[in-house]
Amino acid sequence: MEVCNTKAPQIAAKVATEAGMQVSRISLKNRNSDNAPNVWQKTVLENFEARKAAGADPTTLEFSEIVEHDGSKEFRFMKAIPTDGVCLACHGESLANDVQATITTLYPNDRATDYKLGDIRGSFVVTKMLH
Ligand code: HEC
Repeated sequence: MEVCNTKAPQIAAKVATEAGMQVSRISLKNRNSDNAPNVWQKTVLENFEARKAAGADPTTLEFSEIVEHDGSKEFRFMKAIPTDGVCLACHGESLANDVQATITTLYPNDRATDYKLGDIRGSFVVTKMLH
């Protein structure tokens, strides 16, 4: 819980300051409301789901593009995060009572359970404004 709850946002913030990039994790069924996808990210996540349904290996699902708005270019990268065995303790179908209790306290609107091994848990997102 500590790593997902505290360390991940800290690491993301550190990388962002050092390289001028925004780094985040998102999901169609997010636990933290800050991790909800925006419009283009939702489209990519749905595309990842469609590719997986068509037989693609979820570890290989990636997306990148450069978009131009208001005269500036933005680089966008996403990489799917598959659900591993260790993730099921906190994102699986049956959680230990103490784990469930902690999650319910910290995240009353949690939607990030009922995952199975190999499901797409979410995605890493990297964006960077280019000059
Ligand atoms: C010990 C419990 C625990 C385990 C194990 C765990 N997570 Fe999480 N996960 C969390 C919590 C708590 C959050 C909410 C973090 C936050 O507040 O940003 C979270 C959030 C996430 C998010 C961000 C999207 C969202 O739902 O808010 C992703 C993606 C994610 N976890 C993937 C994984 C993957 C993949 C694994 C296994 C490799 C994993 N987690 C294992 C507890 C856990």
